[in-house]
Amino acid sequence: MKCRHDGSEIPIVHDFGLQPIANGFLDESNPQNEYFFSMQVAVNPANGLFQLVEQPDPKQMFHENYAFFTRTSDFMKNHFKDVSNEIMSYLNSEEANHENFVVEIGSNDGAMLEHLVKNGTPCLGVEPSKNVALESEKYGVKTINEFFGSDLSKQLLSSHGAADIVYAANVFCHIPDINDLAQACSILLKDGGTLMFEDPYLLDVLNKTSYDQIYDEHVYLFSCSSVQRIFKEFDLHLYDCKTLPTHGGSMRYYLSKTKCFDSTSNLINQIDKENSAQLLNLETYDQFSKKCEFSKNAFKDYLSNFKKENKRIVGYGATSKSTTILNYCDIGNDLIDFFTDTTPTKINKFSPGKHVPVLSYDHFEPHPDLAVLFAWNHKQEIMQKEKDYKGLWITHLYEDFI
Ligand code: SAH
Ligand code: TMP
Repeated sequence: MKCRHDGSEIPIVHDFGLQPIANGFLDESNPQNEYFFSMQVAVNPANGLFQLVEQPDPKQMFHENYAFFTRTSDFMKNHFKDVSNEIMSYLNSEEANHENFVVEIGSNDGAMLEHLVKNGTPCLGVEPSKNVALESEKYGVKTINEFFGSDLSKQLLSSHGAADIVYAANVFCHIPDINDLAQACSILLKDGGTLMFEDPYLLDVLNKTSYDQIYDEHVYLFSCSSVQRIFKEFDLHLYDCKTLPTHGGSMRYYLSKTKCFDSTSNLINQIDKENSAQLLNLETYDQFSKKCEFSKNAFKDYLSNFKKENKRIVGYGATSKSTTILNYCDIGNDLIDFFTDTTPTKINKFSPGKHVPVLSYDHFEPHPDLAVLFAWNHKQEIMQKEKDYKGLWITHLYEDFI
């Protein structure tokens, strides 16, 4: 495997077997020719970049029937309102003495940009999945329905001018050509402009053994050290970071084009933590691999033993992450009766690979004996909603079994 950033030969650290398109919910329980790819992960010990060996063509994942809508979570809607406030206060600060222009990459259904539109801040979304892009337009968000990359960035620069802020959430980890992506951001930003992006954080995945963050769309898991090393080659200088509770543990990175600010104490502390966790040491990933295998066996045994007593098991949240779990652990309809989910485009479909039915949320009653919280990253919101549920909860996470 060659590193997607520097082309060096790098080792494979774990194999999750054959996996389908994680958000590819199916109309039939027995589809012909479902697509599968071999999901292995590798790490570059020189720059710490954790990456998929093979990734399906982005057009197979991001299209007019993309299943993920940001607005399905109230917590995420609030999160993006907070992001818009942070962006607006930055633009009103003395540092931003420009005419304002904000671009969001992977703007999905417009849950963040709608607030900038309301406030009159010139902004633009870039979103290749047509159905979610159309949804964002209902909120007045102007959206370019294309994949972001350096070609589009040059076009946007000439049609719209340079941006003060380029913002992206849960999408940079999806874009396979990381060098072209960093170049594209550098082209689009003004000198002194800020690139803010956030993604699931490698250290959280390693600490929690939340291997379900790894699926076709997530070609990378970043850390402060890998972002710092890679983006500076494109004149984008990491100066701050912020840990976030979203998606089970994320990191927001703040990079400045051209200007080199001193690193904040947050960033210095976080890089210290990363150094202590030995992110460049392959032994770290060997441990992770062993924990994944342990978690897989323990989770499947737990469900099998429960099912032997003829009890009802329901999956809560047909998340893209659950696709990795079910296919890696070889768990199907024999163990999980069905998923419940609130996303209209997933309801009455079948889960990718294992074909477990997805039913609407009202099927959560009558309550099952065991609910598997596949949407564990929304635990707080869901526990609040399910105060009357008296059955058991479980997740696949390693800590639940030790
Ligand atoms: N930002 C939203 C959506 C994340 S899902 C949130 O955090 O909730 C990832 C989104 O990125 C999808 O809507 C997908 O269509 C989009 N995407 C994937 N590849 C992209 C690319 N190259 N350029 C821009 N958007 C992309
Ligand atoms: P995510 O983990 O990728 O954000 O996906 C969350 C999934 O869980 C999405 O399909 C919607 C679903 N969900 C519910 O069914 N009920 C809920 O209360 C929440 C918050 C999410």
